[in-house]
Amino acid sequence: MGRIDIHCHLLPGVDDGSTSVAESIAMARRMGDAGYSHMVCTPHVWPTLENNKMTIAMRVGELQEQMDAAGVSITLLPGGEMHLSRDFLDTPIEDLVTYNLAGKYALFDFWTERLPPYFDNCIRRLMNAGIQPILAHPERIEAIQNHPTFIDHAADLGLLLQCNLECIGEGATTVRGRLATQWLREGRYFMIGSDAHRTNTLERRLIGLQRAADLVGQTALDRLTIEHPMQVIAGE
Ligand SMILES: [Fe+2]
Repeated sequence: MGRIDIHCHLLPGVDDGSTSVAESIAMARRMGDAGYSHMVCTPHVWPTLENNKMTIAMRVGELQEQMDAAGVSITLLPGGEMHLSRDFLDTPIEDLVTYNLAGKYALFDFWTERLPPYFDNCIRRLMNAGIQPILAHPERIEAIQNHPTFIDHAADLGLLLQCNLECIGEGATTVRGRLATQWLREGRYFMIGSDAHRTNTLERRLIGLQRAADLVGQTALDRLTIEHPMQVIAGE
Protein backbone atom coordinates (compact mmCIF):
# COMPACT_ATOMS: atom_id res chain seq x y z
CA MET A 1 0.00 0.00 0.00
CA GLY A 2 1.47 3.30 -1.08
CA ARG A 3 0.25 6.83 -0.56
CA ILE A 4 -3.25 7.88 -1.60
CA ASP A 5 -3.63 11.08 -3.57
CA ILE A 6 -6.89 12.43 -2.25
CA HIS A 7 -7.28 15.35 -4.67
CA CYS A 8 -6.35 15.44 -8.35
CA HIS A 9 -7.73 16.40 -11.73
CA LEU A 10 -6.60 13.29 -13.55
CA LEU A 11 -9.69 12.52 -15.63
CA PRO A 12 -8.89 13.70 -19.17
CA GLY A 13 -10.91 16.47 -20.76
CA VAL A 14 -13.53 17.00 -18.06
CA ASP A 15 -12.27 20.19 -16.38
CA ASP A 16 -9.08 22.27 -16.28
CA GLY A 17 -6.99 19.19 -15.49
CA SER A 18 -5.40 16.60 -17.76
CA THR A 19 -6.23 17.15 -21.42
CA SER A 20 -5.63 13.64 -22.80
CA VAL A 21 -5.41 9.99 -21.79
CA ALA A 22 -1.68 10.13 -22.55
CA GLU A 23 -1.23 13.02 -20.11
CA SER A 24 -3.26 11.23 -17.42
CA ILE A 25 -1.13 8.13 -17.84
CA ALA A 26 2.09 10.16 -17.63
CA MET A 27 0.85 11.87 -14.45
CA ALA A 28 -0.24 8.62 -12.81
CA ARG A 29 3.05 6.95 -13.71
CA ARG A 30 4.99 9.81 -12.09
CA MET A 31 2.81 9.62 -8.97
CA GLY A 32 3.49 5.88 -8.82
CA ASP A 33 7.23 6.58 -8.97
CA ALA A 34 6.79 9.05 -6.09
CA GLY A 35 5.25 6.32 -3.90
CA TYR A 36 1.54 6.57 -4.61
CA SER A 37 -0.63 3.49 -5.16
CA HIS A 38 -4.08 5.15 -5.28
CA MET A 39 -5.44 8.35 -6.76
CA VAL A 40 -8.93 9.71 -6.17
CA CYS A 41 -10.11 11.54 -9.28
CA THR A 42 -11.77 14.72 -7.99
CA PRO A 43 -12.86 16.76 -11.02
CA HIS A 44 -14.51 20.11 -10.40
CA VAL A 45 -18.24 19.70 -9.89
CA TRP A 46 -19.68 23.00 -11.05
CA PRO A 47 -23.17 23.64 -12.45
CA THR A 48 -21.47 24.52 -15.76
CA LEU A 49 -19.67 21.18 -16.04
CA GLU A 50 -21.30 17.85 -16.77
CA ASN A 51 -19.53 16.12 -13.91
CA ASN A 52 -21.80 14.14 -11.65
CA LYS A 53 -21.73 10.84 -9.78
CA MET A 54 -22.63 8.80 -12.84
CA THR A 55 -20.29 10.41 -15.38
CA ILE A 56 -17.37 10.50 -12.95
CA ALA A 57 -17.74 6.81 -12.04
CA MET A 58 -17.95 5.91 -15.72
CA ARG A 59 -14.86 7.96 -16.65
CA VAL A 60 -12.85 6.60 -13.75
CA GLY A 61 -13.63 3.08 -14.98
CA GLU A 62 -12.56 3.96 -18.53
CA LEU A 63 -9.32 5.59 -17.42
CA GLN A 64 -8.53 2.66 -15.14
CA GLU A 65 -8.79 0.29 -18.11
CA GLN A 66 -6.50 2.51 -20.15
CA MET A 67 -3.98 2.74 -17.33
CA ASP A 68 -4.05 -1.02 -16.77
CA ALA A 69 -3.41 -1.52 -20.48
CA ALA A 70 -0.47 0.90 -20.26
CA GLY A 71 0.97 -1.00 -17.30
CA VAL A 72 0.51 1.78 -14.72
CA SER A 73 -0.10 0.25 -11.31
CA ILE A 74 -2.28 2.95 -9.78
CA THR A 75 -5.78 2.26 -8.49
CA LEU A 76 -8.25 5.01 -9.34
CA LEU A 77 -11.27 5.93 -7.29
CA PRO A 78 -14.13 8.35 -7.95
CA GLY A 79 -14.68 11.61 -6.12
CA GLY A 80 -15.25 15.26 -6.84
CA GLU A 81 -14.33 18.77 -5.79
CA MET A 82 -17.67 20.45 -5.34
CA HIS A 83 -18.03 24.19 -5.46
CA LEU A 84 -19.64 25.81 -2.47
CA SER A 85 -22.04 28.43 -3.75
CA ARG A 86 -25.51 29.51 -2.70
CA ASP A 87 -26.92 26.78 -5.01
CA PHE A 88 -25.12 24.23 -2.92
CA LEU A 89 -27.82 24.70 -0.26
CA ASP A 90 -30.46 23.39 -2.69
CA THR A 91 -28.54 20.49 -4.22
CA PRO A 92 -30.27 17.22 -3.27
CA ILE A 93 -28.07 15.33 -0.82
CA GLU A 94 -28.16 12.21 -2.99
CA ASP A 95 -26.64 14.19 -5.88
CA LEU A 96 -23.58 15.28 -3.91
CA VAL A 97 -20.36 13.71 -5.14
CA THR A 98 -18.69 12.16 -2.11
CA TYR A 99 -15.37 10.34 -1.81
CA ASN A 100 -15.53 6.95 -3.49
CA LEU A 101 -19.27 7.75 -3.79
CA ALA A 102 -19.56 6.31 -0.28
CA GLY A 103 -21.75 9.15 1.01
CA LYS A 104 -19.52 9.93 3.99
CA TYR A 105 -16.83 12.51 3.09
CA ALA A 106 -17.17 15.39 0.64
CA LEU A 107 -14.48 17.71 -0.73
CA PHE A 108 -15.37 21.27 -1.65
CA ASP A 109 -13.80 24.61 -2.46
CA PHE A 110 -14.90 28.21 -2.79
CA TRP A 111 -13.19 31.25 -4.26
CA THR A 112 -14.77 34.36 -2.78
CA GLU A 113 -12.82 37.24 -1.24
CA ARG A 114 -14.85 37.01 1.95
CA LEU A 115 -16.38 34.07 3.73
CA PRO A 116 -19.83 33.72 2.08
CA PRO A 117 -22.80 34.40 4.37
CA TYR A 118 -24.21 30.95 3.53
CA PHE A 119 -20.96 29.14 4.39
CA ASP A 120 -21.84 27.90 7.88
CA ASN A 121 -25.30 26.75 6.76
CA CYS A 122 -23.80 24.73 3.91
CA ILE A 123 -21.42 22.99 6.31
CA ARG A 124 -24.15 22.28 8.85
CA ARG A 125 -26.45 20.95 6.16
CA LEU A 126 -23.83 18.40 5.11
CA MET A 127 -23.11 17.36 8.67
CA ASN A 128 -26.80 16.99 9.48
CA ALA A 129 -27.03 14.66 6.47
CA GLY A 130 -24.21 12.51 7.86
CA ILE A 131 -21.59 13.80 5.45
CA GLN A 132 -18.24 15.02 6.74
CA PRO A 133 -17.21 18.11 4.75
CA ILE A 134 -13.55 18.60 3.85
CA LEU A 135 -12.36 21.99 2.64
CA ALA A 136 -9.78 21.82 -0.15
CA HIS A 137 -6.61 23.89 0.25
CA PRO A 138 -7.77 26.65 2.65
CA GLU A 139 -4.27 28.14 2.29
CA ARG A 140 -5.11 29.04 -1.33
CA ILE A 141 -8.47 30.71 -0.67
CA GLU A 142 -8.41 34.50 -0.58
CA ALA A 143 -11.17 34.88 2.02
CA ILE A 144 -9.11 32.73 4.38
CA GLN A 145 -5.76 34.33 3.53
CA ASN A 146 -7.39 37.65 4.46
CA HIS A 147 -8.70 36.22 7.74
CA PRO A 148 -6.45 33.33 8.83
CA THR A 149 -8.34 33.01 12.13
CA PHE A 150 -10.90 31.19 9.96
CA ILE A 151 -8.89 28.13 10.87
CA ASP A 152 -10.29 28.24 14.42
CA HIS A 153 -13.82 28.75 13.09
CA ALA A 154 -13.34 25.71 10.83
CA ALA A 155 -12.39 23.60 13.82
CA ASP A 156 -15.45 24.84 15.74
CA LEU A 157 -17.69 23.88 12.82
CA GLY A 158 -16.14 20.41 12.65
CA LEU A 159 -14.77 20.99 9.19
CA LEU A 160 -11.74 18.96 8.06
CA LEU A 161 -8.99 20.58 5.99
CA GLN A 162 -6.99 19.30 3.03
CA CYS A 163 -3.61 20.85 2.25
CA ASN A 164 -1.98 21.07 -1.19
CA LEU A 165 1.49 19.60 -1.67
CA GLU A 166 2.49 22.50 -3.88
CA CYS A 167 1.81 25.06 -1.14
CA ILE A 168 3.93 23.16 1.37
CA GLY A 169 6.72 23.05 -1.21
CA GLU A 170 6.63 26.82 -1.63
CA GLY A 171 7.41 27.41 2.04
CA ALA A 172 7.81 31.04 3.11
CA THR A 173 8.10 32.33 -0.48
CA THR A 174 4.31 32.80 -0.82
CA VAL A 175 1.36 33.63 1.43
CA ARG A 176 -0.20 30.24 0.79
CA GLY A 177 3.13 28.51 1.42
CA ARG A 178 3.57 30.32 4.73
CA LEU A 179 0.02 29.42 5.84
CA ALA A 180 0.38 25.79 4.72
CA THR A 181 3.66 25.47 6.59
CA GLN A 182 2.24 26.99 9.76
CA TRP A 183 -0.96 24.96 9.73
CA LEU A 184 0.89 21.76 8.91
CA ARG A 185 3.20 22.32 11.89
CA GLU A 186 0.19 23.06 14.09
CA GLY A 187 -1.54 19.83 13.04
CA ARG A 188 -4.51 21.63 11.50
CA TYR A 189 -4.74 19.45 8.38
CA PHE A 190 -6.53 16.13 8.07
CA MET A 191 -4.94 15.16 4.78
CA ILE A 192 -2.64 16.30 1.98
CA GLY A 193 -3.42 16.05 -1.74
CA SER A 194 -1.54 16.91 -4.89
CA ASP A 195 -4.38 18.83 -6.59
CA ALA A 196 -2.45 17.80 -9.71
CA HIS A 197 -3.83 19.31 -12.91
CA ARG A 198 -1.24 18.92 -15.66
CA THR A 199 2.14 17.28 -16.16
CA ASN A 200 3.88 20.66 -16.35
CA THR A 201 3.20 21.46 -12.68
CA LEU A 202 3.55 17.98 -11.23
CA GLU A 203 7.23 18.18 -10.24
CA ARG A 204 6.80 21.36 -8.25
CA ARG A 205 3.87 19.76 -6.42
CA LEU A 206 5.88 16.69 -5.52
CA ILE A 207 8.57 18.86 -3.91
CA GLY A 208 6.05 19.32 -1.10
CA LEU A 209 6.25 15.64 -0.12
CA GLN A 210 9.86 15.87 1.05
CA ARG A 211 9.30 19.24 2.66
CA ALA A 212 6.28 17.91 4.56
CA ALA A 213 8.39 15.00 5.84
CA ASP A 214 11.09 17.48 6.93
CA LEU A 215 8.49 19.64 8.71
CA VAL A 216 6.42 17.07 10.58
CA GLY A 217 8.22 13.73 10.19
CA GLN A 218 7.42 10.56 8.29
CA THR A 219 4.80 9.24 10.74
CA ALA A 220 2.69 12.39 10.51
CA LEU A 221 3.11 12.47 6.74
CA ASP A 222 1.89 8.86 6.53
CA ARG A 223 -1.15 9.80 8.60
CA LEU A 224 -1.95 12.67 6.21
CA THR A 225 -1.36 10.76 2.98
CA ILE A 226 -2.20 7.14 3.86
CA GLU A 227 -4.16 6.56 7.07
CA HIS A 228 -6.65 9.42 6.92
CA PRO A 229 -7.18 9.02 3.15
CA MET A 230 -7.89 5.31 3.77
CA GLN A 231 -10.64 6.26 6.23
CA VAL A 232 -12.06 8.70 3.72
CA ILE A 233 -12.25 6.28 0.79
CA ALA A 234 -13.59 3.51 3.05
CA GLY A 235 -16.29 5.92 4.25
CA GLU A 236 -15.45 5.25 7.91
FE1 LIG B 1 -8.63 20.90 -7.22
